[in-house]
Amino acid sequence: MAKRTSSFACQACGAVYTRWQGRCDACGGWSTIAEESATAPLPGGGSVPRGQRGKGRIFALEGLSGSPEDAPRIASGIAELDRVTGGGFVRGSVILLGGEPGIGKSTLLMQACAAVAGLGHRVVYISGEEAVGQVRLRAERLGLASAAVELAAETNVEDIVATLSQGAPPRLVIIDSIQTMWSEGIESAPGTVTQVRGAAQILIRHAKTSGAAVILVGHVTKDGQIAGPRVVEHMVDAVASFEGDGAHHFRILRAMKNRFGPTDEIGVFEMTGAGLAEVPNPSALFLAGRDSTSPGTAVFAGMEGTRPLLVEFQALVAPTSLGTPRRAVVGWDQNRLSMLIAVLETHAGLKLGAYDVFLNVAGGLRIVEPSADAAAAAALISSLTGAALPADRVYIGEVALTGALRPVSQTSARLKEAAKLGFHSAFLPKAGLDGQGRHDITLEAGGDVTDLVAGIAINTPQKRKAQSADQG
Ligand code: TYD
Ligand code: MG
Repeated sequence: MAKRTSSFACQACGAVYTRWQGRCDACGGWSTIAEESATAPLPGGGSVPRGQRGKGRIFALEGLSGSPEDAPRIASGIAELDRVTGGGFVRGSVILLGGEPGIGKSTLLMQACAAVAGLGHRVVYISGEEAVGQVRLRAERLGLASAAVELAAETNVEDIVATLSQGAPPRLVIIDSIQTMWSEGIESAPGTVTQVRGAAQILIRHAKTSGAAVILVGHVTKDGQIAGPRVVEHMVDAVASFEGDGAHHFRILRAMKNRFGPTDEIGVFEMTGAGLAEVPNPSALFLAGRDSTSPGTAVFAGMEGTRPLLVEFQALVAPTSLGTPRRAVVGWDQNRLSMLIAVLETHAGLKLGAYDVFLNVAGGLRIVEPSADAAAAAALISSLTGAALPADRVYIGEVALTGALRPVSQTSARLKEAAKLGFHSAFLPKAGLDGQGRHDITLEAGGDVTDLVAGIAINTPQKRKAQSADQG
C-alpha cells in the first residue's frame, strides 16, 4: 500500500514545501504555493504500470556491438532538426520541446514523425490538445496524410504507456503536450506542477525501458511563465526550444541542454503554407532584400552556437520634435542601445541629444551577442552622417564603456561565412586579431569607436560634405 503524502508546491517554479506559505522562497512569487497530495513515488521515481507490480521482469542482456538496425540514433533526415538533436533522436531518450503556443511545435513534430515513419520505424503521436480529426487535418495540409504515423487523442499516462507497450515497441513517441497529461496516482489537476512532473516521470521511465525516443511538448509563454515544463527540464535528456516572431515566418529550433549532442546549436526553418521548410543558409535569408546603398544599415557577422549568422542592423537617426528624444529598438537590447549612444557621445564626439534614434534587426531576429555593438554603432553613425557603408563590409566587435573595441570569439568562422556570402571586407577589433588574415577578406582593425567613426567618414567624404552643407 502506497503511503499518502501531502506537500505544497510552488506553481510557478516547482519548489516544494512541507507547509503552506504566502511567498515562495525560491522564486519570490506571492500566492503561488498550493497544496498537492500525491502517492509517494516509488524508489527510483515513477510508478510501475498495473499488472507488472510485484513481478520481476526478465530482461535481455546484450553485447556492446549491435546490428545496425539497433542504431542508437534515428536521424529524421530533416537536416536542421538533426543538427539540433546532435545527429538524430537517441533511443530511450526524452526531449522536451518548449515554445510559445502557435509557434509551430505540433507542425514540426508531425513532419518529424512522417520522416521517421518513412524510414520504416513505428511512430506514435499522442495528442492531448487536439482531436484526432484536427491532427489529421494538419497532416493533410502538410501533405503527409499517407504517412504511417499512429495517432491517438489521449491524456491519461497509464493508458498511454499500456497502449505503447502493446506490439512492437515504437521508436518515436510524441506527447503533445505534457501540460495536458495526467496520472491516476496523483490527485492534482492536469497542468499543475505535480501532475506535469509525475506524468513526465512515468513517460521517461517508459522511454528508458522500451527504448523509444520520446518527445514531450511543453508550452511556455514569452517570459518563460507557466513554469510547468520547466520543472521537468532537469529530468529529461535534452531540452530544445522553438522560437520565432509571430510577425515573421522564420522559426529557430535551439538546443538548450543535450546529454547526447552539442548545445547552442540552432536549426532554422521557415513557416510556409505547407508546413516548415528548412533554411540551410540562414544568412542569405536574413540578408535577402537588403538595400545596401542607403545610409543606416550595417551587416553584423554573428554566431549562433557553432553556426555563423549574418544579419543586418538598421538605424534611423532623425531630428526630434520632442523634449526627450525617443530611443526605440527591435531585436536588440534597449539598455545596450542607451549605453552605445552614451559611449559614442562621450568618446567619439557624436551629438545625438537632439535626435530620435531607432534601431532594428532585420528579419525579426533577436540578437543577444555583445559583439554586435560595432555593427549597431556603424549603422547609427551611418544614419547620422548620411554616409552609406560599403555594401560588402561586415562589422564585428564589442564596445566597452571606455570606447575601446573588445575582441570577440570565433572570428575565423564569422569571416568565413562573410566571405562565402560575397563580403570583401570586415571591420573588427584590433585586439586579438592574430592570424585571421585568410578568407579573402580585407581586414580593417579598429582600437576604439573613434576608429569606427573615422573609417566611416573616410569612406564617403563627398556624401558627408554634402550632408553637412545641407545642414549648414
Ligand atoms: P502549430 O504547430 O499548431 O503550433 P503549436 O503546436 O506550437 O501550438 O502551428 C500553428 C501555426 O502554424 C498556426 O498559426 C498556423 C501555422 N501553420 C502554417 O502557417 N502552415 C502550416 O502548414 C501549418 C500546419 C500551420
Ligand atoms: Mg500544438
